[in-house]
Amino acid sequence: MNEDLQHHRVVVVGQGYVGLPVAVAAVEAGFHVVGLEADEARAKALEAGESYVEDVTDARLRAVRETGRYRATTDVAAVAGFDTAVISVPTPLREGIPDLSYIESASATLAPHLRVGATVILESTTYPGTTEELVGPILERGSGLTAGVDFHLGYSPERIDPGNATYHLENTPKVVSGVDAASLERVAWFFDQFCARTVPVRGCKEAELTKLLENTFRHVNIALVNELAMFASDLGIDVWESIDAASTKPFGYMRFTPGPGVGGHCLPIDPSFLSWRVKRSLGQPFRFVELANDVNEHMPDFVVRRLMYAFNRLGRAVNGSTVLLLGLAYKADTGDARETPALRIARLLCDLGARVKAADPFVAAGDFGVNVEHVELTPDEVKAADAVVLLTDHSCFDYDVVVDNARFVLDTRHRLTPAPNVESL
Ligand SMILES: NC(=O)c1ccc[n+]([C@@H]2O[C@H](COP(=O)([O-])OP(=O)(O)OC[C@H]3O[C@@H](n4cnc5c(N)ncnc54)[C@H](O)[C@@H]3O)[C@@H](O)[C@H]2O)c1
Repeated sequence: MNEDLQHHRVVVVGQGYVGLPVAVAAVEAGFHVVGLEADEARAKALEAGESYVEDVTDARLRAVRETGRYRATTDVAAVAGFDTAVISVPTPLREGIPDLSYIESASATLAPHLRVGATVILESTTYPGTTEELVGPILERGSGLTAGVDFHLGYSPERIDPGNATYHLENTPKVVSGVDAASLERVAWFFDQFCARTVPVRGCKEAELTKLLENTFRHVNIALVNELAMFASDLGIDVWESIDAASTKPFGYMRFTPGPGVGGHCLPIDPSFLSWRVKRSLGQPFRFVELANDVNEHMPDFVVRRLMYAFNRLGRAVNGSTVLLLGLAYKADTGDARETPALRIARLLCDLGARVKAADPFVAAGDFGVNVEHVELTPDEVKAADAVVLLTDHSCFDYDVVVDNARFVLDTRHRLTPAPNVESL
């Protein structure tokens, strides 16, 4: 730990999946950190040493609190006197249009406390131009200071991958940018204190585009294998075998796998920031993004169609049957149910008259808007279901219990070993 850093006051606005790991890593590096969090329940939990973000354990949070250099608060006055502020608030899409109101409000909160020489770093995912065209002017109006002259301003995209056991904030290269050379230097310096490597780029727009490029790349490639999975199934070809074989090519190919649809914030939403910006500024559609959206959005319908075919072969109807969904989170080993395809699948099955049960140790019943009955994954629950649909391949699930007791399993993740009662997507 660098002892000198404790006099450097950091504010992280938004203590969610992105902001909390940044705040914790900054405290561990030696900084004094205020985590400003609008949600009172979240701030209280953090103050009690309880983390709601999987990548930050309670033990780590408590150790950070014991340093006396971290506090979470809803009190905006606590940002006073900051040297570096990081904005990591949500950036949702509302009916196809980016909602930047959280960024606006976070910037307006920081502006009156901005001092000469301080640094503001935007970390939320957003369209190119946001840092310079939206955040900068709000900070300047509220402070009477000028970005790049009196204070430093920059953008650094988050690459956090919740649940990833190998890559985390500290060992993933961090792209950094600034509105001028001095800003870039300050942004890089801040992240250099706890990230193994920073990657400077020439401007904020390039850094903003980098994040969208990364997510659009994944979105488009997942759409490609999803569409392939749909065709391959109709053609009677095992797409998984082809994907495994193609993945042996040591160059020029990157493995992506089909699934029940995309979820979370990054994939279904971020590429649309880019297409929105391209359309608004250039009047042109970003065709790759639109096509990928179309394919990925239809995956839940495809899952239900595959289930209906399976029921048909068994001489049954979905109506009146019991379907057990394994996993509600959009991603394995996380409790993140934002934009999860499981929600649409559950809804479609309910509409078809199925009794839908779901087992997911990470997602609480109240977090899920549809009438699904939450159960534990037990041999009796598996036996009681007419079909089991594996949607999220959490590593804590006992897959032997599933295969040994299920009448029929639709495995959308290709996680289970082949068996007569198992069908892969
Ligand atoms: N979750 C990820 O894996 C991930 C990865 C990369 C980038 N991002 C991006 O990072 C940004 C934040 O995402 P997240 O997943 O951390 O969201 P989140 O919802 O988990 O956390 C954001 C937090 O900000 C708080 N907040 C909102 N407005 C506030 C304000 N004015 N003052 C104080 N707190 C406020 C919310 O209450 C919430 O707790 C988004 O732009 C997202 O796209 C997320």
